[in-house]
Amino acid sequence: MTRPHPHDPNTLFQPVRWEGDVATGYVWMLDQRLLPDEERALELRDHEAVARGIRDMAVRGAPAIGVSAAMGAVLAAREALDQPSDQVEPYLAKALETLAATRPTAVNLFWALGRMRGVYEAHRATAPGREILDVLHREALAIQAEDVAANYAMGEHGAALLGERTRILTHCNAGALATAAYGTALGVIRTAHRQGKILNVWADETRPYLQGARLTAWELHRDGIPVTLITDSMAGHLMARGEIDSVIVGADRIAANGDVANKIGTYTLAVLAKAHGLPFYVAAPTSTIDLGTPTGAGIPIEERTSDEVTRVKGLSIAPEGVTARHPAFDVTPAALVTAIVTELGVARPVNVETVRAVSGR
Ligand code: MRU
Repeated sequence: MTRPHPHDPNTLFQPVRWEGDVATGYVWMLDQRLLPDEERALELRDHEAVARGIRDMAVRGAPAIGVSAAMGAVLAAREALDQPSDQVEPYLAKALETLAATRPTAVNLFWALGRMRGVYEAHRATAPGREILDVLHREALAIQAEDVAANYAMGEHGAALLGERTRILTHCNAGALATAAYGTALGVIRTAHRQGKILNVWADETRPYLQGARLTAWELHRDGIPVTLITDSMAGHLMARGEIDSVIVGADRIAANGDVANKIGTYTLAVLAKAHGLPFYVAAPTSTIDLGTPTGAGIPIEERTSDEVTRVKGLSIAPEGVTARHPAFDVTPAALVTAIVTELGVARPVNVETVRAVSGR
């Protein structure tokens, strides 16, 4: 069977999209909590439902959260227009706050909402009523389309860094599921795979939420890319035995100095990669770069419920009543990052100057 070309928009896998027209449409969101057992989508018709989808992890991954929030803002604006005229602005402001309060670490959420707010501010005087909805809807679709294009560009820049017959390790899920489509770290892997460079992808299961086992393994397996699942604690052993050539991960927020916040366990991998002399790559769109946060110390780290540590699929794996912690992200210092791959190019070495240059700002 001929595999569809991954750049064909008709065959692109998208975790979130707008369905229908702006006046009556809704946000279609694949419920990632059910994967890999079930492929079922949610139909979200108001901004509060989108906020719940983000907060409760039906959608996750920094760029996908941003796209979802932008579409949530369109729903919010639609609801606002049904309010008495003096309530339109307060309603919208409160709705944007609700969307912003869902998850704290991925800066793409705030970046996308800032963009939606900016467009609203710029047009509210000249595009009254329903017209502004069209403008906001177009902006949300632009955010989505730009993310796909960024991922393709990142794929090319990143694949050029990889050698032939590469055995590459990735953590969490920085794939199509985590973006508008194609993926960041997995976008690089997809492009390298098309170039015939991928011998194997090691997928960390990613305790405790298991994004690697549930999502990355699902996504790569579905695409016919060779993937081997390991538990997080196996990475050092495989590096020591020479079975891993490089590591690539995504990012939730990159500080101005190049410190990288990403899924818990990323920092451990970067230390291991350094100890074994392996390149450690980060792939992220420029929307993930937060020049307003000087270092990683200023990045808010989400603390999630300890139930996600003590239970797996509802089954208890620890003594009842035991204390557990669940910081969902960690910060990898810039010094441990070999290169940051963005759609605008590669920052290497990683420092204040190269990060600013590659941010395009
Ligand atoms: O808690 P999650 O699943 O939203 O965390 C996702 C990650 O840490 C990803 O690596 C990151 O968002 C980059 S996605 C392209």
